[in-house]
Amino acid sequence: DAASKGTYPYYMLKEIDEEPAVMRRILSNYQTDDQSHEFKIDTEILDAMQQADKLYIVAAGTSYHAGLVGATLFEKLTDTPAEAYLASEFGYHMPLLTKHPFFIFLTQSGETADSRQVLVKINQMHLPTLTITNVPNSTLSREADYTLLLYAGPEIAVASTKAYTAQIAVQAVLAKELGEAKHVQAAQAFDLQQQLSLVAAGQQQLVDEKDHFKELAHDYLADQPSAFYIGRGLDYDVSLEAALKLKEVSYILAEGFAAGELKHGTIALIQDNTPVIAFLTDPTTVGLTRGNIKEVQARGAHTMTIVSQALATADDQIILPDVDDLLTPLLSIIPAQLFAYYASLEKGLDVDKPRNLAKSVTVE
Ligand code: G6P
Repeated sequence: DAASKGTYPYYMLKEIDEEPAVMRRILSNYQTDDQSHEFKIDTEILDAMQQADKLYIVAAGTSYHAGLVGATLFEKLTDTPAEAYLASEFGYHMPLLTKHPFFIFLTQSGETADSRQVLVKINQMHLPTLTITNVPNSTLSREADYTLLLYAGPEIAVASTKAYTAQIAVQAVLAKELGEAKHVQAAQAFDLQQQLSLVAAGQQQLVDEKDHFKELAHDYLADQPSAFYIGRGLDYDVSLEAALKLKEVSYILAEGFAAGELKHGTIALIQDNTPVIAFLTDPTTVGLTRGNIKEVQARGAHTMTIVSQALATADDQIILPDVDDLLTPLLSIIPAQLFAYYASLEKGLDVDKPRNLAKSVTVE
């Protein structure tokens, strides 16, 4: 059944392997029943969101990182300002709100106390709220005005993998539908059905390359005390999640960094063999980030590149299957999830139950 490990040594590996199936499940669950194969989102939700002058995405941990990607999707496809916030910060140091805010709570479990305290406060202000969660009837689902489900199936490993990509995909569906409702050209022109099918196929191709990523994890990360992931734009967002995954399960001190910012201080940490893994899927900044890679190479870094096909050269290590630039996080995170898994395995750690962590944190 869905919650059993089957033949897998760890849930984390099983859940990474499930990512392509989750993409297909999201496609079919959000599709209309007729032949048009269009997406369906409750008109009530779309109506409420159309009134908004800003979308506030509130979340913790990996869900926050999915929210960072979501904010870009909403801005590009709906022409509405959007920003992701850490729940633990937002509730007690609330920024000035716009006149017509709309709140999106991203939470795999639907039970995170940090996120819930924000929802309680927003409800007291009678502002509109939507929870995007994997768990129907969870606390944050019950207490928000609206709910959208992730359809990721039970996620058992403490380190979140398939919920991250599911949250990005569901936000993409919502952004596409809201953008269409608002007659935004970028949304009308975006064939998300086809793109999510390409994503599912691309993810499958990547999870089938496990042995390659296992070798790279061994060559780059085993025995290393620290590592950096770098990127710009969406690639920066993915860097933060890639670093969190590595920290959580392998205990390697990892940092996700804006590629251009590294030279303003943190480059002092680069020594012989320090792993620096760069995501390169953003055509507008690829040249700049390649320059940053040269800078750290000159200081001895052991560099690796994860690159979209259109931007690849003969020297790149990992070339991602082709998808729209807005959806590259759905592919580029997979090698990083597998690096974390294999680095942990190689150290003989319990991948599914990292020390000090809980699947769902119900205290603030
Ligand atoms: C915990 C988990 C993380 C998760 C975070 C938010 O800290 O260990 O993996 O990302 O909570 O959880 P949520 O259920 O709200 O997405």
